[in-house]
Amino acid sequence: MKFSVVTGNLTSRKEPLILGIAEGKDLPPWAGNWSAPIRKMAQELLRSKRFQGKLNETFLLPLGSQWIILIGVGKQKELTLDRIRQAAGAASRRAAAAGFESAARGLLPVKGAAADQVAQAVVEGTVLGTYRYTEMKTLSPDEKKGLKAVTLVTANARDAAAAKIGVRKGLIVAEAVCWARDMINKPANRLTPTMMAQQAKQAARKVSGLRCRVFDPAAQRRLGMNALLGVARGSREPSQFMVLEYKGPGSSSKKPLVFIGKGITFDSGGISIKPSEKMELMKYDMSGGAAVLGAMRAIAGLRLPVHVVGLVPATENLPGGSAQKPGDVVKALGGKTIEVINTDAEGRLVLADALGYAKRYKPAAMVDLATLTGACVVALGQHCMGLMTNNAGWGEQVKQAAAEAGERAWELPLWPEYTEAVKSDVADVKNVGDGKAGTITAAAFLKEFAGDTPWVHLDIAGVAWADGDKGYLRKGAAGIGVRLLVELAKGWKGKA
Ligand code: BES
Ligand code: MN
Ligand code: ZN
Repeated sequence: MKFSVVTGNLTSRKEPLILGIAEGKDLPPWAGNWSAPIRKMAQELLRSKRFQGKLNETFLLPLGSQWIILIGVGKQKELTLDRIRQAAGAASRRAAAAGFESAARGLLPVKGAAADQVAQAVVEGTVLGTYRYTEMKTLSPDEKKGLKAVTLVTANARDAAAAKIGVRKGLIVAEAVCWARDMINKPANRLTPTMMAQQAKQAARKVSGLRCRVFDPAAQRRLGMNALLGVARGSREPSQFMVLEYKGPGSSSKKPLVFIGKGITFDSGGISIKPSEKMELMKYDMSGGAAVLGAMRAIAGLRLPVHVVGLVPATENLPGGSAQKPGDVVKALGGKTIEVINTDAEGRLVLADALGYAKRYKPAAMVDLATLTGACVVALGQHCMGLMTNNAGWGEQVKQAAAEAGERAWELPLWPEYTEAVKSDVADVKNVGDGKAGTITAAAFLKEFAGDTPWVHLDIAGVAWADGDKGYLRKGAAGIGVRLLVELAKGWKGKA
């Protein structure tokens, strides 16, 4: 997608116009910049209630030789950057559906936000809202078309300069999210752990300042990553452990922030095999890993002044002839032993080794992202992720970043009592709880491996996959977590 920024009058443009309208009886104040016929038409529509300006509501109409796409942004008092992002997604998708290859639009004022932030949100929403995963499809010439160019029209040169900065940042972030979405949407035969590691290396080559190393199974064995290797036993695909590092300007002496993402490229459950219904969805079980890769790429692309390490333990979870079995005990990196009661609770196993490996960096703080439990989908649904932490202050920082990114997180308690449920008769811990509070007992397990380092666990099982198009989400991979981690890195002061 190409974005250009011009200064002038929106309604003198020839391209289809995207016009934002707030919910209410009257036209929003920014309609003052529109031409008289457009104002009249919009006013009549609002009065007729055929279009009400509700968030993400669209209305397409011709006005003389020009096309207008009205987009509702909800109540003006409730306007936020995320609503701008959502509305941009819905509007650009409507434009693409109408067959338009270009569009022009303005930038609405958002209380508390600068013009560059609004432009960035518009770019993110537009790119993400028109994202498609089509590489496995044969497309007709018509289907190949899409929205290709968007002109942002600003009132003055100062806003234009700010918008240009926002466009640059928005493209870096949106492209990283689309990259994560692509990896997640790929079927598991097109994104094995090896292919995922290849993607990480390729990205690191293209972005200056980003380094990527990958440990193969032999290296994992040397390091003692037996929990990861145990999960990988059921598959012929070698497990891969990705280590990405970025030291931004002026950050080299600082202890790093460590991001860890679950990278199960397919989760069949292993010997504790899952029911076949919807099993195909389990290609998205590497969404946490994709978020970490996407975030590392965006943070390096933005040249943020931070020191960040990204870790992604990747493997398939399959029930092959050498697969690990319920009752097996593995020794994780760091020395703790784990009784594997259920081979389908594999995410916490690979994360245990990653948390152990993270210690080498003496991190100032850690965050892990994982599609970890079905229980989280039951508890919170698809509207927010679960957040659990061993450090209240660090938890607040992550919540703040989540709110700013519009990627909502809701905290669940992680009191010491929950740890009882993961105690084992034969090993130090076991990989399932007692059947209650499954999301929390999974976190209680991870907590044993996080040690004293400030750590936040984000269970993204409910939010990593979208069931339909909405705002800037497309049906399929959401690419959740990338923007949250970028926000976190932006606000990072070097300690939790
Ligand atoms: N990847 C799944 C969690 C999951 C389930 C994500 C459904 C999205 C939708 C995870 O590896 C898993 O299988 N967890 C088990 C844990 C249980 C065996 C303790 C679960 O949630 O059932
Ligand atoms: Mn599983
Ligand atoms: Zn899983």
